[in-house]
Amino acid sequence: MRAVTIAPRTPGSLRLDDIPAPRPAPGQLLVQALAVGVCGTDRELIDGHYGEAPPGEKRLVLGHESLGRVLEAPAQSAFAAGDLVVGIVRHPDPVPCANCAAGEWDMCRNGLYTERGIKQAHGFCSDFFTIENSMAVKVEKSLGLAAVLLEPASILAKAWEHIERIGKRARWEPRRVLVTGAGPVGLMAALMGMQRGLEVHVQDHNETGPKPALVRELGAKYFSAETEGGYDIIIECSGAPAIIRKVLGFETPNLIVCLTGLSPAPSDVKLELAPWNQAMVLNNQVVFGTVNANRRHYRQAAEALARAGKAWLERLITRKIRLREKWQQAYEKVRGDVKTVILLED
Ligand code: BGC
Repeated sequence: MRAVTIAPRTPGSLRLDDIPAPRPAPGQLLVQALAVGVCGTDRELIDGHYGEAPPGEKRLVLGHESLGRVLEAPAQSAFAAGDLVVGIVRHPDPVPCANCAAGEWDMCRNGLYTERGIKQAHGFCSDFFTIENSMAVKVEKSLGLAAVLLEPASILAKAWEHIERIGKRARWEPRRVLVTGAGPVGLMAALMGMQRGLEVHVQDHNETGPKPALVRELGAKYFSAETEGGYDIIIECSGAPAIIRKVLGFETPNLIVCLTGLSPAPSDVKLELAPWNQAMVLNNQVVFGTVNANRRHYRQAAEALARAGKAWLERLITRKIRLREKWQQAYEKVRGDVKTVILLED
């Protein structure tokens, strides 16, 4: 079968391979991959910044944002042939740590977790993949291709859950939210903010392309100018050091800043710690990072996608590239692109 692979930590090693189709072990589903979403993590893996092949192997199958059709399911499972599923990316560490033991693998304490398509486990960008039925999430057929957005949505479902838990440390009546970056992650953050009845502002450097309209259609405000303060919540989705520096400079009482973006390249943006510490303490501020998602967050994300409506979600998918065509183009950064999806079914 076809599989998109890399030799981890080796820039330029991306290729389309022909590898044996997997056979499901007891308790596993055999899934035909329909679509795989591409994100910044894939580009960082291709550029050799990180990534690990499964133990004893040299290459890693890419793809962690999946959508597939079940071909075979164990008799006692909740799945049947024909179901549409998305694979959960992170699998608990084998020790397991207290969090992984409780199903909170997104908060793994010892770093021994694996991640499909990223760390020590093959991803989903191959004609077929297998997955433990406990690590698959059934999705509504009516969502169609838009269900491939479930994994990125799960990251924001977790971010919002944690923001709300932090907010409830005291009486909490948030009103205004700033989302920095209008990529798929920022758009999901904005969607979920609107679904909570908040006033959402999205800042992004793009003044043209589909992003401004996608934000406005949600009922949120889009702008590309410098951000002003006055927000109760900031969800940073750009990973851009200058933007992060800016949002860490706001002095709103009780402000919660959630960092979701990675900044792989070194930068010379500096943060003067003494005034920052002063502002944090005197304003009861919280800055926290968030990564990955557990099964609860995938469920929350599925609800958010169902409420969002298929039409808006489908417009996030700005490029569809068939694996049998110029599949490499899927990994190129294209101006105005929101989400690129590789279609595996011919
Ligand atoms: C994925 C997460 C993963 C993270 C770090 C992200 O792109 O969506 O599931 O935990 O990368 O590897």
